[in-house]
Order: sequence, then C-alpha cells, then structure tokens
Amino acid sequence: MSLISIVGAGPGAPDLITLRGEKILKNAEVLFWTDSLISPKIAAIAPKSCELIRTSSLTLEEILPLMINRANQGKRVVRLHDGDPCLYGAITEQICGLADAGIEVEVVPGVSAYQATSAALKTELTIPNLVQTIILSRTGGRTGVPENENLEKLASIGASLCLYLSARHVQEVQTTLLKHYPADTPVAIGYRVSWPDEWLTVVPLKKMASTSLKHELIRTTLYLVSPALQPNKNRSKLYTPSHDHLFRSKK
Ligand SMILES: C[S@@+](CC[C@H](N)C(=O)[O-])C[C@H]1O[C@@H](n2cnc3c(N)ncnc32)[C@H](O)[C@@H]1O
Repeated sequence: MSLISIVGAGPGAPDLITLRGEKILKNAEVLFWTDSLISPKIAAIAPKSCELIRTSSLTLEEILPLMINRANQGKRVVRLHDGDPCLYGAITEQICGLADAGIEVEVVPGVSAYQATSAALKTELTIPNLVQTIILSRTGGRTGVPENENLEKLASIGASLCLYLSARHVQEVQTTLLKHYPADTPVAIGYRVSWPDEWLTVVPLKKMASTSLKHELIRTTLYLVSPALQPNKNRSKLYTPSHDHLFRSKK
C-alpha cells in the first residue's frame, strides 16, 4: 500500500521543523506544499530532484488526483503543512480522499504558531493558581465556527486564549472579549512569528484592535489573550519543598 507523509513544517523558521519531519523531507520525491504559509527555505530542504507542487492556488479536487497519481507511481510523496497539521490544516479531507484511493498516510507533528509565539515571549500559558487552561480557536468570519463554540462563550472562561485566523475581524473580536476579560488583560499580537520579519508586541486588550489596524495586520497573525502574560511570581506545587510526589519526598 502507498504511503503519503503529512508533515508539520512549524511556524516559519526552517530550524523549527522536527528532526523526523526534516528526515522525511530530505527523502521526498514529490513535495506538495502550502506556499502561502511555508518558507521556501523549508521546501528547499527537499532534494533538488524533488518535484515541487505549490498548493495555495489549487482546490482539493486538483490536489488529490495529483497526490494519488504520484503515490501510485511509487514515489515518496510528502504533503507539507504550516505549523502543526492538526490545527486548521484541512488534512481530514485529504486523508479521507486518499483512503478512498487506497493510500495510507502518516502524520508528523509540527510546532504550532501559538507555541512559537509563547516561546518568543518567553512565557508559560499555564500559571499555577491563575490560569490552567489553553483554548485554541478562531473567530467566525467567512468560514464560521459552530454556534456552541462562539467567541463570547470561550471568553467567559477567562483562559489563555489563542486566536488563529482572526485578524480581519479584530475590532469585533476585541468588543466580544471585553465582555469577559478586564480591559488591561495582556494580548500578544504576533505577526509571522519566527520569520525574519517577525513582529511581536504585547498590548492591553483595549488596544488590540487599534494596534492591529495601525500595523495593517490581516494575515499570519496570532493573538494570545492571557492573564499569564502579566508579571507574576506564582509558584508551582511541583517544585515546592513541602510538596511530595512519586519522585521526591518532602524537604
Ligand atoms: C491555516 S492556519 C494554520 C495554523 C497552523 N497549522 C499552526 O499550527 O500554526 C494559519 C493561521 O495560523 C496562524 N499562524 C501560522 N503561522 C504563524 C506565524 N508564524 N505567526 C503568527 N501566526 C501564525 C495565523 O493565525 C494564520 O492565519
């Protein structure tokens, strides 16, 4: 049975792909890559002889037959998606179409934009006694989200909220978030995080929209809305001397 490798490319920097992903890429004979979101430097990890197919202007109906054709020729086919393929990667429709054609897939995870952004900020998104939940979501827009996941409902939890694909609707997003988060809640705005032209800042929630509009952010922007971004010295129980666990007795 033929096998296609779906590989997470990471957020942009070529050295943020996993070792497994890089190894598979180095052996690719055909590479399908989302050229609108992935650095050409990552596609260039594939051998010079590799057939490169850009997918940003293609439909699923155009991509699938090409993938199936190359896989059936016995070629090592790699499908590269930005960040982690499990987030807004539209891989399910590809996996189903390939399965119908008798082609199996393997999926290699990647570093997602929210992880790259929190790393760039040198922050943890789960601070003891402050916030212990991370929500990865997006606002509706043209694609829509199920009603029971609407942004206001998610905001009411007060968790660390990572918003993808939402920059075009930032004014509406800010208005909704202000119904639940205090106006001075820090919001990180990350544009092309880990790319050479990365732009990253932290502003109070009340300035989320004006800052985004001023910098004309529309694409490749991630928002991290979180009480964890404000200075705090909360300690974990894990490393507290009076707390014992399987690997350490009380000190
Ligand atoms: C189609 S989604 C894919 C997300 C990707 N699978 C991931 O795990 O990061 C594209 C959106 O992810 C976010 N994104 C991806 N890479 C980014 C980066 N380097 N910096 C900021 N946001 C990014 C933006 O919200 C962008 O509009």
